[in-house]
Amino acid sequence: MNVQAPAKLNLTLKILNRRPDGYHELETIIAALALSDRITISQSGAPGHLEFQCNEPDLPIDESNLVVKAVTAFRKATAIPTGLKITLVKNIPHGAGLGGGSSDAAATLLALNKMHDSPLSKLQLSEIAASLGSDVPFFLTGGLALCHGRGEKVTPMTEPIPDWSLLLIKPPFGISTPWAYQSYAKTHNDTAHATPVQKLDDWNLFNDLEAPVFSKYLPLAELKGWLRQQPEVRAAMMSGSGSTIFAILGNGCASEDFRQRVVQRYGDTFWVMPTTLDTKDRRH
Ligand code: C5P
Repeated sequence: MNVQAPAKLNLTLKILNRRPDGYHELETIIAALALSDRITISQSGAPGHLEFQCNEPDLPIDESNLVVKAVTAFRKATAIPTGLKITLVKNIPHGAGLGGGSSDAAATLLALNKMHDSPLSKLQLSEIAASLGSDVPFFLTGGLALCHGRGEKVTPMTEPIPDWSLLLIKPPFGISTPWAYQSYAKTHNDTAHATPVQKLDDWNLFNDLEAPVFSKYLPLAELKGWLRQQPEVRAAMMSGSGSTIFAILGNGCASEDFRQRVVQRYGDTFWVMPTTLDTKDRRH
């Protein structure tokens, strides 16, 4: 079985408060992207067997990988030990704020459930997904959603999905999500200025994690500032806890010319990827 695991962007990210459990209460609009990882799953070997391969040598393929965690959680919840071979082809960089690992976990859960004729209900899948990571439940439905709690309470949005041309730009360093939230908690106070909003069509785009992340990672602030000055760019913002900055380009603009200009300025250690939002509805 072949499944796609899409990346995501946070179009808004509002931090409401720090919770007693250390997480932050959020209100965030998340949109899935056309850019995706690919996962191939087949039955293989004796019960309990797992052969897991990944084309990205930097990613651990042991129990710390979210795909392996998803398999373990599925087996525990269903007591179905089918032997498996799983191959993961990464297109989404990690430490990028694009939800790649979370999406791989959700796609693995969905594929295993389908492969075994749906032993788990949607609610059970959501609970397992939330135990794997705050972003994982979003990827069970994808599309466009308003997420609350630590991000795991997902309400699909009925608004049409914008047909924006996007350029994703990630410098050669990633950002640790726990560090970004800790940094927000340390630097934020009630007198701090509200995060500036970029208005685009009917959207108010903003990300409360930009200020704490930009205060340490100055190249990200420079990149966003430069992007916003370019005539092709309608809006530019960091996704999640970074380090990806995304640019929303004007309709009909020559995105290949613009991509080349970005590569020329930032060099080939920056990852630069054109994409769009994912218009496919994955609910089933
Ligand atoms: O849930 P997940 O494993 O993705 O979260 C990683 C870390 O990011 C958490 O351990 C926590 O430090 C931080 N986080 C947070 N508030 C959230 C989501 C994540 O503080 N809503």
